[in-house]
Amino acid sequence: MDAMEAILTRRSTRRYAEVMPDRELIGKVIEAGRFAPSGGNNQTTHFIVFTDKAVLAEMAELVCHEFSKMEAGENTYASLRNSINASKKGGYVFHYNAPVLIVTANQKDYGNALADSACALENMMIAANALDLGSCWINQLHWLDENETIRSYLYKHGLLESETVTGGLILGFAESGQPNRTPLERKGNPVTWA
Ligand SMILES: Cc1cc2nc3c(=O)[nH]c(=O)nc-3n(C[C@H](O)[C@H](O)[C@H](O)COP(=O)(O)O)c2cc1C
Repeated sequence: MDAMEAILTRRSTRRYAEVMPDRELIGKVIEAGRFAPSGGNNQTTHFIVFTDKAVLAEMAELVCHEFSKMEAGENTYASLRNSINASKKGGYVFHYNAPVLIVTANQKDYGNALADSACALENMMIAANALDLGSCWINQLHWLDENETIRSYLYKHGLLESETVTGGLILGFAESGQPNRTPLERKGNPVTWA
């Protein structure tokens, strides 16, 4: 698959097979993230890779519990409101039981933290598609970046106190065998040739 095809057929996959991709394959995806550009060539995006099913289940339970204590206000971003509402019903699994979760973090006081991590995450999603792996950006840990319970949990798994959680990515083989590649029409993202 060439680069354009990998970009144009990438979609979010939200149903995963239980089987764990081998470490070499996961490593290729992470390498694509590490080769993303960064402001001033900073190279401070930190990739924290979770593959332990029990740890992921524990994390999902913790995230569900912390969201369930929050209230969605009038101005709450729709996706965050959905997470808060789903968690109040219990059993909210933010990572769709994918076998791999890669959390991205970056320096707290760095102005390009989010932009650099977004470049890395997109590189990883495109690489995953080219390698026949499904993936989906997972933002819940970013929304909970200032939650002390979640931060303490992530410190135990490699997050540094000087870092902010910028995003995340789930990865795995799609339940159907092939990643979701159903075309999604573009109605937005306007282009102006000035
Ligand atoms: C910044 C960002 C945050 C996202 N957060 C989530 C998320 O937390 N959970 C989820 O299921 N999808 C998440 N997505 C995936 C979007 O819902 C998805 O990209 C969008 O609906 C378009 O569909 P596609 O990825 O299949 O093209 C996120 C995407 C982006 C770019």
